[in-house]
Amino acid sequence: MGTTGLGDANSPRATAPPVSRRPWLEHWLATVSDLSELKASHPMMDAVIDEVDGRMIRVGDRWLADFASCNYLGFDLDREIIDRVPGFLERWGTHPSWSRLLGSPVLYEQIEERLTALLGSEDSLVLPTITHIHMSVIPLLAASGTIFLDARAHKTIYDGCQIAKARGAAVRRFRFEDPDHLDALLSAERDPTRLVCMDGVNSMTGNAPDLAAFGAVARRHGALLYVDDAHGFGVIGERAPDEPCPYGVRGNSIVRHAGETYDNVVLIGGFSKAYSSLLAFIACPTDVKNLLKVAAPPYLYSGPSPVASLATVLAGFEVNEARGDALRATLWRLTDRVLATLDRLGLETPNRSGLPIIEVPLRDHQRIDAVGRFLFDHGVYVTLAAYPLVPKDEVGFRVQLTAANTDAEVDSLITALEALAAAGELRVRDAELEDAA
Ligand SMILES: Cc1ncc(COP(=O)(O)O)c(C=O)c1O
Repeated sequence: MGTTGLGDANSPRATAPPVSRRPWLEHWLATVSDLSELKASHPMMDAVIDEVDGRMIRVGDRWLADFASCNYLGFDLDREIIDRVPGFLERWGTHPSWSRLLGSPVLYEQIEERLTALLGSEDSLVLPTITHIHMSVIPLLAASGTIFLDARAHKTIYDGCQIAKARGAAVRRFRFEDPDHLDALLSAERDPTRLVCMDGVNSMTGNAPDLAAFGAVARRHGALLYVDDAHGFGVIGERAPDEPCPYGVRGNSIVRHAGETYDNVVLIGGFSKAYSSLLAFIACPTDVKNLLKVAAPPYLYSGPSPVASLATVLAGFEVNEARGDALRATLWRLTDRVLATLDRLGLETPNRSGLPIIEVPLRDHQRIDAVGRFLFDHGVYVTLAAYPLVPKDEVGFRVQLTAANTDAEVDSLITALEALAAAGELRVRDAELEDAA
């Protein structure tokens, strides 16, 4: 009899218990089992989108209103921007693949010049994603000093800090939204190299930190403040007497919105949300930019953003200048309709800002599957915030509005929220509980 090479059935080895050959896989599957069960069974997770029509999406045979995208200004669907792309492809091809150190199409110079003027920073450098920036820039800025990390910072900031730690930096956590705690930690610190890392507009709560307070603490202690405003760039901007909505004007991000300066502040942002393009930036002094051009691995080794993304950034700047404030006013108005509904129904949400990220917590975290299915069946697509993505007491769903959503889509969301509230699925505000007691 021939041998298969997989072992003889009569040999002693065949009766031994099977030895798992992929213990790492089992370990991780067990760690994330709640999420992977939900992903495998839930239509609103890991969905295949078959078609889009405006902000309506088709999943299989069902059309849903999309409240899960971060395309806040609706530039992904903007005809003027779409029409600009083919001309750039004609001139540059789809993707010249030089790393930026080898050579960059002049489009990069144009983007950085325009971006620097918009932000009012000393200079700026663009790289494909914010993740690239955190992983490479945080370790450089921290060197072997001490990082003070917001306890609820975005995972990509946290991971950048872990890399810095592996290279010799120390990492201390300060309490979320607590500049006094940061102040106390910095006061007790003897290390002269101090980097404070935190989010701008928070991707879960939709609120912006008190940047003036954090900036003052950082400056007082000679620390550099590193702020990731992925969700604020394009949405909030400098204040103006004639601003059409409380987001301010020009969408030039949290530093300008807070009336702060770039002294001791490094701002990170991305085009992949409000501008619907694959590109990100760091606003920093020119000497830091020149350092990054020889020391940040993504500038030296990573592939660049596709030409279509560079084109949509450049076209996006023009649309932002011409129509951005009107789009932001629409975004604010649609968001306000949803927040007013939650308020009327006495429901809880962490959103205090009026910005277009609205977390809706569930009364019972175990109902996430059923609530998600209800929304799906009623034509509403949201982001499920399931355990372990969030702690059990924060399980719920997140609604994100964009300027491309319609009032009819918001109507369908409001109807679904009313039904979920009537069924007792959503968490009511503490004050309402006290009234009911
Ligand atoms: C706060 C924050 N930072 C960074 C990222 C990652 O950005 P990028 O896709 O540009 O790496 C995200 C994405 O959701 C985010 O919300």
